[in-house]
Amino acid sequence: MNTVQSEKLFQKACNIMPGGVNSPVRAFKSVGGNPLFFKKAKGSRVWDVDGNVYIDYVGSWGPLIFGHAHPQIVEALKRQAELGTSYGAPTELEIELAEKIATLIPSLDIVRMVNSGTEAVMSAIRLARGVTGRDKIVKFEGCYHGHVDSMLVKAGSGLASLGIPECPGIVEDLAKHTLTLPFNNINTVKELFAVEGNNIAGIIVEPVGGNMGVVPPKEGFLETLREVTTETGGVLIFDEVMTGFRLSLGGAQSLYNVNPDLTCLGKVIGGGLPVGAYGGSKQLMDNIAPTGPVYQAGTLSGNPLAMTAGIEMLKLLAEKSVYDELERKSEKLCAGYKLNIKKIGITARFTRVGSMFSMFFTDQDIVDFESAKSSDVKFFRSYFTALLEEGVYIAPSQFEAGFMSAVHSDEEIDQTIEANYKALQKACD
Ligand SMILES: Cc1ncc(COP(=O)(O)O)c(C=O)c1O
Repeated sequence: MNTVQSEKLFQKACNIMPGGVNSPVRAFKSVGGNPLFFKKAKGSRVWDVDGNVYIDYVGSWGPLIFGHAHPQIVEALKRQAELGTSYGAPTELEIELAEKIATLIPSLDIVRMVNSGTEAVMSAIRLARGVTGRDKIVKFEGCYHGHVDSMLVKAGSGLASLGIPECPGIVEDLAKHTLTLPFNNINTVKELFAVEGNNIAGIIVEPVGGNMGVVPPKEGFLETLREVTTETGGVLIFDEVMTGFRLSLGGAQSLYNVNPDLTCLGKVIGGGLPVGAYGGSKQLMDNIAPTGPVYQAGTLSGNPLAMTAGIEMLKLLAEKSVYDELERKSEKLCAGYKLNIKKIGITARFTRVGSMFSMFFTDQDIVDFESAKSSDVKFFRSYFTALLEEGVYIAPSQFEAGFMSAVHSDEEIDQTIEANYKALQKACD
């Protein structure tokens, strides 16, 4: 595989950016080798600067549920760009996107747009603390909620990939208010709330773990979080930055039928542009400035280009109802992978919820961060490299989800299964 141009650009990038990248996992550190530099993408394919083409299961880390450069989104963006790219003043586009989101996710009456998932989480936590007058927030090991100071404690995603146990720079006085519990463990939640419940501002959770690889919630887990927060007057925050509009039109909360008080969104609602949002009941959201005293603001928040992409994305999702098709395609891929594993005779575990999926090289059932970490990351490394050589691009980390898009064809999925077989064989050698 010729990656000469990518190598050259990476050397250049390292002179001007930390580690040569603008987000750590992109640097390929946990899989070895250097990152590929991309120059174009269309549908389910990405092209690197050396002209190699890959079937893409990263989809910009989740947003691109209709693949790259969808014509409807691109056309709408061109039209909007002619009208101006940012006004820093209200637009009808913001209302349209917020209304679409609120209609599709019943637990949201009022929505505030921000620029990233991190911002959404940061603001939701501030609101939870602001309305309850309490400091403590409960999060779960292996869940990633963006690089918010108080959330970089036992976080998944990049920290897990790079093996960073504790992030320097987080004030201890702040970190001590983050209480971490094992994902899916109902007893530890009940035990903690029995003692500390009245001091806890809220719980934040990825309703389907997506940043330690995919970890579905056990039956009763999300319901327990709902119960204990209701009993103690805490705020239940679902971080649906990854799962929102990816798993269903109503997000994971409608799939599992548990309503949070606040929801954080990002990824899909931006249609590939930088967007985040958070929202909940009018009563809660009225505490946000300028209606209430909990301050949160943004120069580019509700940006017209970002709103336009989000609107088109949600239109496409509502019109085409792609979720059954995503389910079928994702199941086809995973069934093919499972057969390969059996044929080759290695031990692995698969997890999948809708179009989010993971493969772990372990004999343990994947229920939490500990079991996810039992995967053989050295094997993953070899597998990742071999898969790339076969023309399939997955996230360069064991602890990230794979994403199916609506535009992956059956032929491409067959090709991927074949590539997976060869890559697994190579990794075994
Ligand atoms: C569940 C979850 N929350 C928050 C974030 C942070 O979003 P962003 O990277 O847009 O800041 C991510 C990013 O991957 C995420 O997966």
